[in-house]
Amino acid sequence: MRKKITVVGAGNVGANCALRVADKELADVVLVDVIEGVPQGKSLDLLQSGPVQGFDVTLTGANDYEPTANSDIVILTAGFPRKPGMSRDDLLLANYDVVRTATEQIVKYSPNSILIVVTNPLDAMCQTAYMVSKFSKNRVIGMAGILDSARFRTFIAQELKVSVENVTAVVMGGHGDTMVPVVRLSGVAGIPLTELMDQATIDAIVTRTRNGGAEIVKYLKTGSAYYAPSAAAVEMAESILKDKKKVLPCAAYLEGEYGINGLFVGVPVKLGARGIEQIYQVKLQPEEQAMLQKSAAAVQELVDVIRAKHG
Ligand code: LAC
Repeated sequence: MRKKITVVGAGNVGANCALRVADKELADVVLVDVIEGVPQGKSLDLLQSGPVQGFDVTLTGANDYEPTANSDIVILTAGFPRKPGMSRDDLLLANYDVVRTATEQIVKYSPNSILIVVTNPLDAMCQTAYMVSKFSKNRVIGMAGILDSARFRTFIAQELKVSVENVTAVVMGGHGDTMVPVVRLSGVAGIPLTELMDQATIDAIVTRTRNGGAEIVKYLKTGSAYYAPSAAAVEMAESILKDKKKVLPCAAYLEGEYGINGLFVGVPVKLGARGIEQIYQVKLQPEEQAMLQKSAAAVQELVDVIRAKHG
């Protein structure tokens, strides 16, 4: 039997997730949105690209969750995107309600699913989905680190004029201004970044990575990035469905790892059939650990607001 992925939110991120899942022939897709007609229209359009692209999956649009029943994976993208000048944190309360409502429905119809959260502010929305769903911690995973490290990798490859495929980069921490691009663990074909670039160039690339989302919001004006975010979410879904056990930076619920407790923060994890199968605790240098703590503290502030609302 084919696998089933529900994508909640038929906006740009959601529709592109559906497109990428179909193109990779990973699973049947149900696209859900509160706006009448949009998920139906987009999924029908996507379905009709099947004969050209050569995929045999079905795509269905819906305004309710009944058609999503028994999904293997749910990718949660619904929510308001940023406008220029806004931080991801400005979306907290509006998107809390969206994620809470969606999660209740997901639990009702797909109690055994694995949840990939994409909605911002990412780490706090993971916490919301985790609290509401009461799923085990390996089944609630946030998409951020792959996107942030893809940006880091892109800028490194551009600067050095090398293939992006040779560039590895690690970005940890929350998906916000305090994210932690770990330069020491990044490089090209095994060559440390510090041997390839001077410090000023590295610093400029780190800053551009941290502001990577805002750079795109500034161009688009009406919303935020969606091609790279959807690619990242689908890489996670693929690793889970195919049990590939890729090691990827994702937001995971930490219980003491890196000295962080009871909080979703981006760290390297192994993604397989059970969701998060391992959390890797890399030995960090004191200044890296300090940056991670600072980033976790920023996530904690938002989570405190949500905890007060959640009761
Ligand atoms: C970004 C938004 C989607 O980083 O968080 O582009």
